Amino acid sequence: MAHIDDDLLKFEIPEVIHGIGALTKIGCCAKRLGGEKILLVTDPGIIRSGWIDEVIKHLEKENLKYVVYDNVVTNPRDFQVEQGAYLYNRENCDVIAAVGGGSPIDTAKGIGILASNHGNIHEYEGCNLVTQPVPPLVCAPTTAGTGADISQFAVVADTRKKRKMTILSRSIMPDISLIDPRLLQTKPEDLMAATGMDTLTHSIEAYVSSLSWPLTDPHAIHAIELVWRHLLNAVRNKNVDSLVGMSIACLEAGVAFSNAILGAVHALAHPIGGLYDLHHGLINSVLLPVVVGQNMEHAKDKFANIARVMGVETRGMTREEAAGHVRYQIENLIHKLGMPTRFSQLGLDTEDIPLLAKLAQQDLCMMTNPCCFSLDEIEAMYREVW
Ligand SMILES: [Fe+2]
Repeated sequence: MAHIDDDLLKFEIPEVIHGIGALTKIGCCAKRLGGEKILLVTDPGIIRSGWIDEVIKHLEKENLKYVVYDNVVTNPRDFQVEQGAYLYNRENCDVIAAVGGGSPIDTAKGIGILASNHGNIHEYEGCNLVTQPVPPLVCAPTTAGTGADISQFAVVADTRKKRKMTILSRSIMPDISLIDPRLLQTKPEDLMAATGMDTLTHSIEAYVSSLSWPLTDPHAIHAIELVWRHLLNAVRNKNVDSLVGMSIACLEAGVAFSNAILGAVHALAHPIGGLYDLHHGLINSVLLPVVVGQNMEHAKDKFANIARVMGVETRGMTREEAAGHVRYQIENLIHKLGMPTRFSQLGLDTEDIPLLAKLAQQDLCMMTNPCCFSLDEIEAMYREVW
C-alpha cells in the first residue's frame, strides 16, 4: 500500500478581492492584518506609473506608517531580498504590501521569509523548508500573468551561481490579493503579451499536471478559455472587458498552478532565466509549443478539451486528432502576438544547452509534468526552439 500522504491532496488560496477599485482597500486590508508600519515593496516602473502615490494615500487614510523598498528588477535577486528584510527589521515593520508584477511580489515573499527565519534565502530553496510564520502579506498585482499574488511559490535568482531558486511553501502564500484591473492599463504591450503567455502556460501545465484534481481542473481549463478570448484584445486595445477577462484568467491559472504545480515548460524556462535575465513569460512562450508537442501523448483527453476551449471544432474528431490541434493553435497565437519563436532571436548561445538541460531535469516543476524526460530528450527540446 502506498504511503498515506501520497494519496492526500490539498487546495489553498488567499483571500481575494477582485474588481475595479480593489486597490483602494489596501490600507484597510493592511490594518486588518494587524499593520501599524508597512513595508511597501515595488519597483521604479510602478512608482513612475503613479500607482504608489495612490497606495500611499490609502495607507495614510488609515493612519498607517510606511517605508518603501523599490530596488527590485525583473528576475529578483537574492541580495535584494536580503536588503528588503534588513529594512523591514530595522524599521520595525509588521506587515508587507507588494504592489507590482511577479518580481516585487516574489521579492516580498523572500523578505517575509528572512524577516522571521534565520540564515539566507538560499537555505529555503525546495519544498516546505520555511518553518517560522512569516509576516502578513497583502499583494496588488499589476500584471495579468505571474499569479504570484495567489501562489505558494517564489522564484529568486542565486546571483553567485547564476541560477534561479524555486521556493515552494505554504507559509509564503499571501494573506490577501487585491486584484484591480485598472492596474493593467499602464502595462506596455510587449509585457502584456509575455505575461499573458505565462498565464496560458500556468493554466495548461496545471491542467495536465500529475497533481491536478477536481478542485484545480475547472479553474485551469477556464483560464485557458479566458486567455483565448481576451489576450489579443488586451494587448491591442486594452479595453476594460479584456483587462477584466485577463485578470480573472491570471487569478484562476494561479489558483490552479499553486495547488497542482507546473511542468516541463517552467522546468526548462527557469535555468534560462537564471543564466540570461530574460522575461520569464517570453521564455515560456518560446518553449510552450515544443513541450506541448511532447506531452500530448501522455494526456490526450485533457489536450482534446484544451483544443475545444481554444475554439477548435472537435466534434467528429478522435481525441488524438483534437489534441493534435493544440500546438498549432498556440503557435498561431504567438504569431499574432508578434513574439519570438526561437532563442537564437534573443541572442542565446547553444553552448549552454547541456548545462541548461541538466538544471531543467532537477527543477521542482519537472516532478509534476505528465511524463518524465531523459537528459537527451530535454536537450532535443531546447535544440528544436534554438
Ligand atoms: Fe510562470
